[in-house]
Amino acid sequence: MKNDTQHTPPFTEGINRVDGILKVTGAAKYSAEYELPGMSYAVFAISTITKGTIASIDTKAAERAPGVLAVITHLNAPKVPGYQTGSDPDKPATSGGPLKFFVDNTVKYNGQPIAMVVADSFERATHAASLIKAQYNKEPHETDTEKNKAKAANPKGGRGGDYKRGTPDDWKTAAVKVEQEYVVPINVHNPMELSVTLAHWTADDKVTVYAKTQGVKSTQNAIAQAFKLPIENVQVTTKFVGGAFGNALRTWPHEIATVQAAKLVKRPVKTVLTRELQFNTVGYRPYTWQKISMGASADGKLTGVIHEATAQTSSFEEFTEGTVNMTRFMYACPSVGTIYKITPLDVNTPTWMRGPGEATGAFALESAMDELADKLGIDPIELRIRNHADTDPENGKPFSSKNLKEAYQMGADKIGWSNRILKPGTLTEDGWLVGYGMGTGVFGAGRGRATVKAAIQADGTLLIQTSVTDIGVGTGTAMTQIASEIFTNIPVKKIKFELGDSSLPPSPTQGGSAITSTVGGAVHDACTQLKEKFQQLIGNGGTDKPDYVKVLKEKNMPQVDVTVTSSGSTEMRNFSSYSYSVHFIKVKVHPKTGVVRVDKVVSVADSGHIVSPKTARSQIVGGAIGGIGMALMEEGLMDHRYGRYVNNNYADYHVPISADIPQIDALFVNKPDYRVNPMGAKGMGEIALIGMSAAVANAVYNATGKRIRELPITPDKLL
Ligand code: MOS
Repeated sequence: MKNDTQHTPPFTEGINRVDGILKVTGAAKYSAEYELPGMSYAVFAISTITKGTIASIDTKAAERAPGVLAVITHLNAPKVPGYQTGSDPDKPATSGGPLKFFVDNTVKYNGQPIAMVVADSFERATHAASLIKAQYNKEPHETDTEKNKAKAANPKGGRGGDYKRGTPDDWKTAAVKVEQEYVVPINVHNPMELSVTLAHWTADDKVTVYAKTQGVKSTQNAIAQAFKLPIENVQVTTKFVGGAFGNALRTWPHEIATVQAAKLVKRPVKTVLTRELQFNTVGYRPYTWQKISMGASADGKLTGVIHEATAQTSSFEEFTEGTVNMTRFMYACPSVGTIYKITPLDVNTPTWMRGPGEATGAFALESAMDELADKLGIDPIELRIRNHADTDPENGKPFSSKNLKEAYQMGADKIGWSNRILKPGTLTEDGWLVGYGMGTGVFGAGRGRATVKAAIQADGTLLIQTSVTDIGVGTGTAMTQIASEIFTNIPVKKIKFELGDSSLPPSPTQGGSAITSTVGGAVHDACTQLKEKFQQLIGNGGTDKPDYVKVLKEKNMPQVDVTVTSSGSTEMRNFSSYSYSVHFIKVKVHPKTGVVRVDKVVSVADSGHIVSPKTARSQIVGGAIGGIGMALMEEGLMDHRYGRYVNNNYADYHVPISADIPQIDALFVNKPDYRVNPMGAKGMGEIALIGMSAAVANAVYNATGKRIRELPITPDKLL
């Protein structure tokens, strides 16, 4: 293993996106674009109540409508063999108990599918679904997290445990104190690509699926389990994903329903969710209330911190995330307590959304740090440096790498932090108030297990294969870059990385900022072993840059290949491994209209060696835009009288557009961490967003003197 003192690999431009031309020319085939002979289309009729039971459902008109092949409800749905007894309302909610469609007549949230129409065209299916009429026995519902906070409890499973070290209540007797509440509303992933499942049974016990998923192997597993099929009888393909941000991390009930419908109608069935159904079928970032109680000595040393959070979940399933976790290890403080609760509501189950709970938690913690700096009258970066954790305060372990101080400096220099004035509301430009703010992000940097096959073929192509899905982040490009740095004598255009297919060697689901490390580590190991195997083949005295085509021809071999499974080293257990980000924002706020314009963004990532500079930059830029959306615009708004979203479309659920986004500078510390993997790379997908919303809120405070603790920061809150 290399160590930190060895050279930093050169920070080159990196290769272009290997799928860039395919994407910009429309040649990239997304899951919804597959057409099979005899294709049929499924559309859902949805519940118009929030809680209760279906008393009766009239599907006659739908069944008679032109082109209709089947109308599936709880009354006639064929059993999914892997679904046991259906949803049992008497069973307590536990993690991992997803909703099942059409197993009984209960309605658990507004917009829940109550019938599925399969027709020979999408339009005919849509029309027929509109003809379905249901009568309900309505029960009172609860969808408001604030109103139901008293019902909140520690989760039974998941990340439930409260945490305490030292005497957290020490904050109360500190010289300087902050005690504030923060709210992050529902955020919905809303990628451009809608959720897609296309199922085609090729035999009684064999099914082929094209799906939007972040993990073809996990989708394959879920379908095999639901239909009690041998795993190899389920084929899942996902070649391109048009953004997911977490909403395709798990297999949702509408996907199982699609596979079930295809079996019933004996034709391929394609389900593409509507934009409306994206809001309540494939998860969302849960509404989360937080409270930070924080105390420091007069010289700015933290003496006690308590971070509490209460988030919503569904009535039937626990969803938990790491909202309060960063507070345990982010700053050196002897006394820290965290409390995490969830409150069950009559809604669909939330899920991870980019940055997941850490992004929610960082909004509170990094806002509170800014408030503390303000009260102390010291620079917010200086406050963070005074409380810098040199070792992990949660477990005493050294960090595998941490270059946070350097990241602060790089970002401060780039944004012109020295122009910031401590007293808010002081700076103006052309009649606009000007402010600077910053926020820190952190996310675990691990390495999982993956299997990669690498082959040098007779024509000199280096073919690398693994099942991983690329959700748009540039995995294919990064893997090609890693391979090209090992096989320096194979031109990049002769390296082919094949992915997104469950029949390929297994890789984990793309998520949690772990794929470059996990799959990249396995690609690195496979390529290294393949190179050695080739050396052995040509024997001693051979060049280390042989002519592969010539050697294979001489030996009369079609190819030389290796299949390698690899994972993180056991040494990693002795270290805490995190990626860090520091986001710097300059905003302009209009004093009369409350409009906030983000004027400059500088994001600095301490994510180890940058494997693929171009796609890494894209990750940081995309995360920054997502974070600006979270800070200023995004809010899934429910009318709690009806338990229904009022803005379930792109017109009313605002996300940033190009005109909202200035030039974004993505900087990288680019220091390798070889403890995590042989490339020295740490993840960056999540840290690109984590901490950004606090940076914006802190900049708005610096501009206006108004502290907004409830996202999004819309103009009305500033007037
Ligand atoms: Mo990410 S929230 O792990 O897709």
